[in-house]
Amino acid sequence: MAIGQDRAHVIHPFSQLAATEVTPDDMYVGGDGCYLEDARGNRLFDANAGLWCVNVGYGREEMVEAIREQAGRMSYGQIFARNANLPSAELAAKLTELAPDGFNRVFFSTGGSIANETAVRTVHHYFRLQGRDSKRFVISVDNSYHGSTYLAASLTFSGGNYHDLFHVVDVVHRAASPYPYRAPEGLEGGHFVDYLGDEMERLITRLGADNIACFILEPILGAGGVIVPPEGYHARMVEICRANDIFVIADEVVTGFGRLGHFMAAEPVFGMEADVITLGKGISSGYQPLAAALVSDRIYEVISSSADPSAVYAHGFTHSGHPVCCAAGLMNIEIMEREDICGRVDRVGAGFQDRLRDLGGSPLVGEVRGMGFMAAVELVADKNTRETFPPETGAAGRVEAHCRSRGLIVRPLRRHVILSPPLVMTAEEGVWVVEVIQQSLERVESELRAEGLLA
Ligand SMILES: Cc1ncc(COP(=O)(O)O)c(C=O)c1O
Repeated sequence: MAIGQDRAHVIHPFSQLAATEVTPDDMYVGGDGCYLEDARGNRLFDANAGLWCVNVGYGREEMVEAIREQAGRMSYGQIFARNANLPSAELAAKLTELAPDGFNRVFFSTGGSIANETAVRTVHHYFRLQGRDSKRFVISVDNSYHGSTYLAASLTFSGGNYHDLFHVVDVVHRAASPYPYRAPEGLEGGHFVDYLGDEMERLITRLGADNIACFILEPILGAGGVIVPPEGYHARMVEICRANDIFVIADEVVTGFGRLGHFMAAEPVFGMEADVITLGKGISSGYQPLAAALVSDRIYEVISSSADPSAVYAHGFTHSGHPVCCAAGLMNIEIMEREDICGRVDRVGAGFQDRLRDLGGSPLVGEVRGMGFMAAVELVADKNTRETFPPETGAAGRVEAHCRSRGLIVRPLRRHVILSPPLVMTAEEGVWVVEVIQQSLERVESELRAEGLLA
């Protein structure tokens, strides 16, 4: 029944609408811990944590209770102008406590895309109030993903025709990708960082620093293929931005909330000192739609300095600071702190990453990369040339299907198999996940050989 209703009425995000037909295998009806249950009653280990978001795992009674309690007490409370509610005030205070020094203000929204929109609009507002209206351009790197609203989609440079369809051409500009595995030849290690720095400086010169407002970067590029930039890259980019009065936005929608062993990873892990930090997904472990943009004191001082009507911060959403979402956010942090989730990501993540590297022995695997609880296996048709399979081979999709038949959900994204398990995954479960992927790779290898698609 529900399957029929879905087929008849639901427009699925990021789907090939002509070919997408949901089956009972695709319909999930329950979840607990790291596991989901599908409509056929199969229990599946969700090594994606939904979409990188179910960080404390499914079905946590305390989360359910916090949501129920707040919904019963006050189910909605807007925070426009001078309106306020308790959970959003408490959560803002808690987030600034977890943030690096110099971040004391929070703008709430319901998704990472909107958090990134907020970051850019806030920076634009800052420069406008300073009478520097020309500073409007935003630089984003190739292979980035920042969301799916119009501006966030324009900031995104990964994934098929996505960008061609949605680019806000005159605001966003593309910088070279910090993608070591696919760096131009001869640019290993430190040379690649120099190259990327030089490219960035050239781009800034071409556009004019007076026209550039900000640079947005995921500390690790998630949906682009868990691309870990080369060491020294983040600090170099920050240095160049500082020298040109360009603000830095750290998009920590995926990398935040424990996935790399920190509530916010950009500064402690990568030395990336940002001016705005955006958070989403794991901020509520997906129990409620919640996201946030943390704004530095330097920016806030300017945007809050004038009482002139023209200085109104004209930005906001019906569900900004939604009390039920914020109550979920508060409980999520309480659980993460009590269970030292960040510490366990450090401990379990190291072993998990080590094991994953063993997959590199497969002839299909070009590179395995990642950190903490995020990883990608990049599939190639030829390990020497790093040539990829034509999309119609569906190599990553085949791996996904074999994993699934063994009870494991992984995410195929173009030529990558993506992993972002719940942060409560145990070391033993991590070993099992890698074993299943190994077996699935072997099956796909034989299939492709039999079909003459692999030499
Ligand atoms: C790094 C990053 N930023 C922003 C977003 C957009 O978040 P949302 O889908 O909640 O709008 C995503 C979503 O995957 C993301 O990976």
